[in-house]
Amino acid sequence: MPDRTQTRPLPALDHPLASDMQDAVLHRPQFEPRNYQYITVEPISGALGAEVAGIDLAAIDDATMAEVEQAMLDHLVLVFRDQNLEPADQLGFARRLGQVAPWPYAKPMEGYPELTELVSGPGDINNFGGSWHTDSSTFEAPPAYTVLYCVSCPPVGGDTSYANQYLAWDTLPEDVKTGIEGRRLEHSTARAFGDHATGKGSPDATTTPVSVPTQHLNLVSMHPIVRTHPKTGKKALYVNTGFAFNFEGCSDETSKPLMDALATHGSLPEFTCRVRWRPGTLVVWDNRCCLHYAHNDYRGQPRTMRRAVVAGERPV
Ligand code: SIN
Repeated sequence: MPDRTQTRPLPALDHPLASDMQDAVLHRPQFEPRNYQYITVEPISGALGAEVAGIDLAAIDDATMAEVEQAMLDHLVLVFRDQNLEPADQLGFARRLGQVAPWPYAKPMEGYPELTELVSGPGDINNFGGSWHTDSSTFEAPPAYTVLYCVSCPPVGGDTSYANQYLAWDTLPEDVKTGIEGRRLEHSTARAFGDHATGKGSPDATTTPVSVPTQHLNLVSMHPIVRTHPKTGKKALYVNTGFAFNFEGCSDETSKPLMDALATHGSLPEFTCRVRWRPGTLVVWDNRCCLHYAHNDYRGQPRTMRRAVVAGERPV
């Protein structure tokens, strides 16, 4: 039996303009948020994201948490302002979402093995997360949620943008959907982290050095290019060009045109929202159905975030 993934040619994606997809470029819950009893929810853009008010994340009861979980499913990215969270409070909230997993590619915060401090120093050239991506897709079971808290940030700059991958999937032309459904991408730690993975480091490393433990050096995970969210049952495009470079059974060269086109499609401005940070802002996002991008427009200014990740499942 020939390997279908190797014999079936990849489709071409002539990139559709957002103006040709107006009907589809709309995520219903953004326009029709639910009425909640304990929280208020204000959508940020037509595509995804909502600011949630009326909540102290350090002391959240079960009924309020149930509403937060529903809002997560509807809006994909939730922004909580004016929190005053100690590391233990942030971890406590993250644990309400699932099992908090250490992130082994950076030094953990002193005394808190499950928290990573993402620090940008005045001399940094690159920033952490400065490309469209979803977290740790090289893991067999990548994190479901990332819980990021702003300790300090520049007065302007250093925003994070998000892109709705349900919309990215829904708006692909039917022939492209048919051509890629059932295919998998090869997500590789060594290739994603390059010199950091081989321990050589890089002259423009950020103040938060990434270093890959030896047992992860050969980590390669095959994940479907379209995945079904375990809770909403909706399909989302799952492309991560910083972590995956080829379709299973295809070379980089064969894969690249479609990978690039899908990456461009998945981060169309119409699918995005942008969050401006303030100290005390906490954002949670669902890595299973959105991409994110940390803007690198604050050179010379310090920025410190605390990050926890909540374990997810193997994408299907
Ligand atoms: C990340 O990519 O996980 C970090 C995003 C940010 O610092 O804004």
